[in-house]
Amino acid sequence: VRQVIARVPAKINLVLAVGAVRPDGYHELATVFQAVSLYDEVVASPGDGVSVSASGPYGYAVPAGDLNIAVRAARTLAHHAGIAADVRLDITKAIPVAGGLAGGSADAAGALLACNELWRLGLDDRDLSGIAAALGSDVPFMLAGGTAVGTGRGEQLRHLDTAGMLHWVLAIADGQLSTSAVYRRLDSVRTSQSVSKPDVGQSILTALQTADPVAVGLALRNDLQEVAVELRPTLTQTLQTGRDLGAVSGIVSGSGPTCAFLARSADHARSLAAELVSAGVCADAIAVAGPAFLSE
Ligand code: C5P
Repeated sequence: VRQVIARVPAKINLVLAVGAVRPDGYHELATVFQAVSLYDEVVASPGDGVSVSASGPYGYAVPAGDLNIAVRAARTLAHHAGIAADVRLDITKAIPVAGGLAGGSADAAGALLACNELWRLGLDDRDLSGIAAALGSDVPFMLAGGTAVGTGRGEQLRHLDTAGMLHWVLAIADGQLSTSAVYRRLDSVRTSQSVSKPDVGQSILTALQTADPVAVGLALRNDLQEVAVELRPTLTQTLQTGRDLGAVSGIVSGSGPTCAFLARSADHARSLAAELVSAGVCADAIAVAGPAFLSE
């Protein structure tokens, strides 16, 4: 039996500038995405209708049936191609669910890529990217990987070349944060303020040209961080402990609750991860590197 395996990385946001709410309810964004080397695996094999199973460290938290975004991805792709949606999806889930790492979006991207191959549809990157955007704001980036500037609601991408690898520690929190709840909270604290047009700024773009961790560290910014920390006050201690332990910089990833700490090297990331776990300020800590890419 033929099967197609897609390996899809998680993402962090090096900059997440959040603008005004648009008429469609989404926020205008300017963000710098980076895919990092923590991977989910999506295996597509022949099936009757669409079914999904999940295993691995976070498999227990993966929704079943049509609540699963990978299932919706397969159905949307089949609908687009005018064929019956027949596939079995087996997800090995290493990316935490609702952790601010776009794990669900990664699985959707993996399902698109794997079903395109399994069903021999031959859709190109542009076709797939359009379908991806309909599934979620982060899905087009998860399909592309690497490092990119995202605008619009995050789905309009400009690839960035980076001079080298960056080494990060992902401090995984106990539990989840709802992305829409974090955005709603931001709106409620912002009501009286005027919100300017979001811009990633020049400093992160310059820093990525050298991939110097100190310069990148100084340029990290997340407009959702303050409200994510309000919703999950223990993150204050996680962020402070990472800095005290010698991280170059630390930031909440996306809408949280995962924190991403920048390290000076792969060795530094490994030791920092072990120290964060020992300090008891996170459920787990994983040393990763970016940019990462998806593969088949
Ligand atoms: O696009 P996606 O379904 O992944 O977004 C999840 C939620 O995050 C949305 O329902 C919305 O509340 C919020 N969001 C937003 N503006 C964006 C992206 C996401 O308000 N640009």
